Amino acid sequence: MENVIDENKQGTSLKLASKPDNTKKLYIESYGCQMNFSDSEIVASILHKEGFNTTSQLEDADLVLVNTCSIRDKAEQTVRKRLEKYNAVKRQNPKMKVGVLGCMAERLKSKFLEEEKIVDLVVGPDAYKDLPNLIAEVEEGRNAVNVILSKDETYGDIAPVRLNSNGVSAFVSITRGCDNMCTFCVVPFTRGRERSREPQSILEEIKDLANRGFKEVTLLGQNVDSFLWYGGGMKKDFAKASDLQKATAVDFAALLELCAKAQPKMRFRFSTSNPQDMSLDVIKTMAKYNNICNYIHLPVQSGSDRILKEMNRQHTRAEYFELIDNVNKLLPDCSISHDIICGFPTETEEDHKDTLSLMEYVKYSFGYMFAYSERPGTLAARKLDDDIPEKVKKRRLSEVVELQQKHSLIRSKAFLNQETEVLIEKTSKKSDSEWSGRNPQNTTVVFPKENYKIGDFVMVKVEDCTSATLKGKAIGYSKNM
Ligand code: 5AD
Ligand code: SF4
Repeated sequence: MENVIDENKQGTSLKLASKPDNTKKLYIESYGCQMNFSDSEIVASILHKEGFNTTSQLEDADLVLVNTCSIRDKAEQTVRKRLEKYNAVKRQNPKMKVGVLGCMAERLKSKFLEEEKIVDLVVGPDAYKDLPNLIAEVEEGRNAVNVILSKDETYGDIAPVRLNSNGVSAFVSITRGCDNMCTFCVVPFTRGRERSREPQSILEEIKDLANRGFKEVTLLGQNVDSFLWYGGGMKKDFAKASDLQKATAVDFAALLELCAKAQPKMRFRFSTSNPQDMSLDVIKTMAKYNNICNYIHLPVQSGSDRILKEMNRQHTRAEYFELIDNVNKLLPDCSISHDIICGFPTETEEDHKDTLSLMEYVKYSFGYMFAYSERPGTLAARKLDDDIPEKVKKRRLSEVVELQQKHSLIRSKAFLNQETEVLIEKTSKKSDSEWSGRNPQNTTVVFPKENYKIGDFVMVKVEDCTSATLKGKAIGYSKNM
């Protein structure tokens, strides 16, 4: 499952030559995971053909779309607050229409129209191609809902419009949905069954990005390691595929190799990996290609075997350690990050200590840490009492965060006096005279601009660091890229 930043949001403006006849204005805001941001680019593309250009001014919009996240209650509350804001704007501009997209749309379906009177349109993650019809309905004064989940929709045939792009790094989605059914997670209900996108369309999208000067691509999926193309359809139906389909199937390691070979001057990342599905082949492929970044986001959720079982994670603590050992052996300079949930139902102090000791073993470079939030309809919500008091959840979470900060600092310090390759992405937030970029391990690096420019691959000698940022000086262009 991807790293979710549920407070993350962006209003967007379309970086695309405006068609003269594109007179309608779309304001689109995204919350949650990278997949949502990527989906909004697909939605912008679909609606561009319908005469919409995006605007970054909410007040100017004919149509406001909010791409929502349901992963935790807080994420949903953030969206409800935004709807209040849209409501205030709509009072000034009654013709403005409001649509809800994404996971909340899927979870609440037409109930949304009753709960939030301001909403005209509810569209689930697999129904974006129906937006033109749904908008036509709304324009005729009717509310419109489509939350049908699909077995094969991957939007592989839609060229996304890059929103808020730095022109250097882009997301390319490769799978949709998730079959894992972790008991705490709402995603299998909101995004449906796992299906993979045709490799050729992935390669074409990447080639187009390369031609437009992009230098880095992150391959996206709820669970990238379970990528499996055998001619279309759901992952779960692979067993019924023909012998030829099976023989010519492309798995994630093969896809990574295809990408790395096709664009040797581009850097590749991927997110998210699932420990139970990550194969040795993937790690070996990473080791084989210089242009696949040595960084793995490998959520563990808990260090306790008992809790892992309650979560329906399909691996034990020992199996996770074995995977970590293999990564360390085959990719010695690979960084690893995690997702951890604190206060899952029935979690004891012992279980929590197991999480802390697992963290000590791995010494992750980064982490995304959350207090458990019960999600209606999930197996955990149906079977288990949300019995850990909020205060205890918060205290355990702060212990996990504190330990992570300690480990992040250790990992940052390991770069001191080393040379590291940085792709320049933007001006540093703290200083106009410094660039900011990331090294292959996904750590942010800042350094004086000199004559370098955005999109350059530069070698930086690291002179100083905090737990989150490396600081240094450029010593020349990278010879690898
Ligand atoms: N409560 C708290 N965190 C959750 N996550 C998923 N569902 C929940 C939940 N119900 C976290 C997991 C996942 C990340 C994207 O969000 O750690 O990996
Ligand atoms: Fe990730 Fe598990 Fe949720 Fe799937 S069910 S999206 S693997 S947390």
